[in-house]
Amino acid sequence: SGYNVAVVGATGAVGSRFIELLENEAAFPIKSVKLLASKRSAGKQIKFNDQMLTVEETTPESFAGVDLALFSAGGSVSAKFAPEAVKRGAVVVDNTSHFRMDPDVPLVVPEVNPQALKRHHGIIANPNCSTIQMVVALEPIRQKFGLEQVICSTYQAVSGAGQSAINELYKESQQIINNEPVSPQILPVKGDKKHYQIAFNTLAQIDVFENEDYTHEEWKMINETRKIMETDDLKVTATCVRIPVALAHSETVYFTTADKDVTPDDIRTVLQTAPGVVVEDDPKHQIYPQPVNAEGKKDTFVGRIRRDMDNKGAFHMYVVSDNLLKGAAWNSVQIAETLHKMDLIHPAN
Ligand code: A2P
Repeated sequence: SGYNVAVVGATGAVGSRFIELLENEAAFPIKSVKLLASKRSAGKQIKFNDQMLTVEETTPESFAGVDLALFSAGGSVSAKFAPEAVKRGAVVVDNTSHFRMDPDVPLVVPEVNPQALKRHHGIIANPNCSTIQMVVALEPIRQKFGLEQVICSTYQAVSGAGQSAINELYKESQQIINNEPVSPQILPVKGDKKHYQIAFNTLAQIDVFENEDYTHEEWKMINETRKIMETDDLKVTATCVRIPVALAHSETVYFTTADKDVTPDDIRTVLQTAPGVVVEDDPKHQIYPQPVNAEGKKDTFVGRIRRDMDNKGAFHMYVVSDNLLKGAAWNSVQIAETLHKMDLIHPAN
């Protein structure tokens, strides 16, 4: 017994985390694992526990007999194959932005809105990485003190743009140290017209530009936060910036609570017992979250909690988490675990 699981995008940055989590962490029974990617990687061997698995090209027929499919191979791949997987009886957990704002698709962070899973029709969307770590930290504050407004600035790792962007950061860094010219080809956005150096630089563009001169990433943070927290009236905005860090996103989050008598200690106390949150906040001892410490961890780290000196009920905090784990693969595996606990995956045989 157990589920037949497929990983779509198994050779990618998120795909490799899926494989590790399925090997070591997943709290649901697994009968088989199938690794899918594009034709380019078909035939490649990847170790899974003590077996060697062969990567296969993704086709509609790949999903025959699959009970649970974890997708992270880009929006167009999900658009094409997620419905094929559902047609064949699989439950899909999709890491791309393709289905996130579809009213029929639950957008889930298990610490925040697990109840939304009950309304699924085969596809569950995993939110944007920056949104996930922000709502993990904000939801316990909202529940206890109410939330009026959120203003977020991000400092995002290049791995959010895939393995090729990590490679680009390393290559450019080496070239600059060697006094050689760089030739950016991936960042800020592979599909956009211009490409800029990321090594020793920052880029105030993540994803393409859209309405009102906000980027798609910034719109994701606005719209997804409201959907996940089920708060259409929450004022929320973001500025998203790529920085030359390989793993783990950082963000400064400014927020105002409905309760105006809240103190920084009240916020700290709530976050200390919040699921998925680790408070690292001890200025006296120079303790605050850092990407190098968050790398490889499943938690969301929060520090630098302090009041806005000009406004009551207004605070700053600093939130750091591994974007490939809580921001992607781990949140998806948690969704699958929650589906399993709620008896919402139904194997055909
Ligand atoms: P492939 O190795 O065959 O290119 P990343 O986010 O790190 O860039 O990884 C993207 C993942 O999506 C890779 O596993 C990649 O596989 C996969 N992928 C890209 N295009 C397709 C496609 N058309 N069908 C299936 N998988 C794809």
